[in-house]
Amino acid sequence: MTTTEIIAKVKNLPPISQAALKLVNLLEQSSISNDDIVQVIKCDNVLTAKLLRACNSPYFGLDEPVASVDQAVLMLGHQQILHIVLTLAFGSAMVVPLPGYAVEANELWRHSLITATAGEIIAAEAYDLNVEAPVAFTVGLLHDIGKLVMSQAITPELQNQIRELVETQSCSRTEAEKRVLGADHAEIGACLLKSWNLPEEILEAVAHHHHPVCKPQPRLSVITHVANCLAHLAGSAPGWDGFAERVDPQAVAALGLDEARVEGLVVQVRDAFERVDQFMTMA
Ligand SMILES: [Fe+2]
Ligand SMILES: [Fe+2]
Repeated sequence: MTTTEIIAKVKNLPPISQAALKLVNLLEQSSISNDDIVQVIKCDNVLTAKLLRACNSPYFGLDEPVASVDQAVLMLGHQQILHIVLTLAFGSAMVVPLPGYAVEANELWRHSLITATAGEIIAAEAYDLNVEAPVAFTVGLLHDIGKLVMSQAITPELQNQIRELVETQSCSRTEAEKRVLGADHAEIGACLLKSWNLPEEILEAVAHHHHPVCKPQPRLSVITHVANCLAHLAGSAPGWDGFAERVDPQAVAALGLDEARVEGLVVQVRDAFERVDQFMTMA
């Protein structure tokens, strides 16, 4: 099957907020003002209501109640608001169970949020790559979105074939998907994001999150690859194949990290688990 044929088979993808997609496109601009963000969020009533509910939850512990998007951005800052809005908007699509991956409800969302957090940490660490933290966060959040589509195309029989390839021929999960279905979840995810008109840089990073592009210049796919591996090493490895994730040593070297630093980052990511869990209960 081609990527387009696989996507065409999917019937139940939850609708994604147009405002959230617009916000991701805004990330491409060199500077985003509070006003740009407020104007986009305000166009979506559901998202606005979710955002205000989140801002007024005990998680943020604000002294005064937040009554408008303008106030929310002023009180929490636009980076924080972007995180909340994107997490809420895409999270609602990711809460479903994925039988094709043996992933239970909420697990993909949690793993995506942890990878997003790891992406931000790495973007700050590898600052000479010049990747903005919100961009690294967003790609982390979206990196496995192709699994939503793939899970619907993977019948129990295809699932068995994939499992057999991983367990008996030491194929990676993505290689096995490609051999059995003709495409893997990374390509499918990029194709889905393309249909939502998201920026090329984000599509490229999602498409290559298992095979990062280190040359001639390491870019966003390298950060996303290492962020995903850190999430796995820290214990966020959903599905039966979670154990099989391998970190590409070239990607680690391209970020200027050594083994000791990787271990330190794993601890940092694990420390963020509690915050992620609290956030999910409040959303
Ligand atoms: Fe993946
Ligand atoms: Fe992942």
